[in-house]
Amino acid sequence: MEVIIQPDHDCAALLVARVIAKEIRAKPDLVLGLATGKTMEAVYRLLVRMHAAEGLDFSRCRTFNLDEYVGLAPGDSHSYRFYMNDHLFRNVNIDLRNTHVPDGMANDLGAECRRYEAAIARVGGIDLQLLGIGQAGHIGFNEPLSALRSRTRVKALTPTTVAQNAPLFGGADRMPRRAVTMGVGTIIEARRCFLLATGDSKADIIAQAVEGPITSMITASALQLHPRCTVVVDEAAGAKLKEKEYYRWIFENEPEWQDFR
Ligand code: GLP
Repeated sequence: MEVIIQPDHDCAALLVARVIAKEIRAKPDLVLGLATGKTMEAVYRLLVRMHAAEGLDFSRCRTFNLDEYVGLAPGDSHSYRFYMNDHLFRNVNIDLRNTHVPDGMANDLGAECRRYEAAIARVGGIDLQLLGIGQAGHIGFNEPLSALRSRTRVKALTPTTVAQNAPLFGGADRMPRRAVTMGVGTIIEARRCFLLATGDSKADIIAQAVEGPITSMITASALQLHPRCTVVVDEAAGAKLKEKEYYRWIFENEPEWQDFR
């Protein structure tokens, strides 16, 4: 794992957007794994701006989202399909047929999960997976005790996650309690992972996920097994990390990051 500490949320989001843009330019048919949540909104805003101002070309990109709520239709403004269309897809030149979000309305959710895994395999796997982190330490909706080798499946949401996301629905009673999510095993098979976390509400969980033991209680900690995972935080979300000076030295000195300093 590598940790990059940026001064604030905007700088952290910009760094992630620039990495994505660089990868798309290097491989125009990039397979991108995408995440939702408040933290990602700035990343998508920047990608839309790069498309408009610099001609960043999404026409051959393929995308796979991490997760979707069970029981929400694509047209529901709380669904992650709606979020993606709204924040990114309809604002860039991506072919919607190349964008994939699990179908939370499928009659047979088990079959939908197998179909999703097969679709990822058919394109040769995910090149770059973008990740946020929930306060329960989850990636996607891999809640505590998710098997670290799990595949796409239905998960029940923990009270912590319900409490975190309920305000978006106008109350916990209006929020779905289950979601289809890529598994931890699915996620860590991506060739490159980028986790973005900002704000002081993420400081404790980031310290545990990055510097604590690997545990299914905090599924983001499974990223420690990934050979090419970068965690980008702002000062607030990185505040409780112990080895900050080491991480800063690497970012300032390693040639890999010279275009991003
Ligand atoms: C949801 C998503 C996660 C995301 C998390 C963080 O729970 N399923 O993939 O990481 O939100 O959300 P936020 O960025 O709003 O803190």
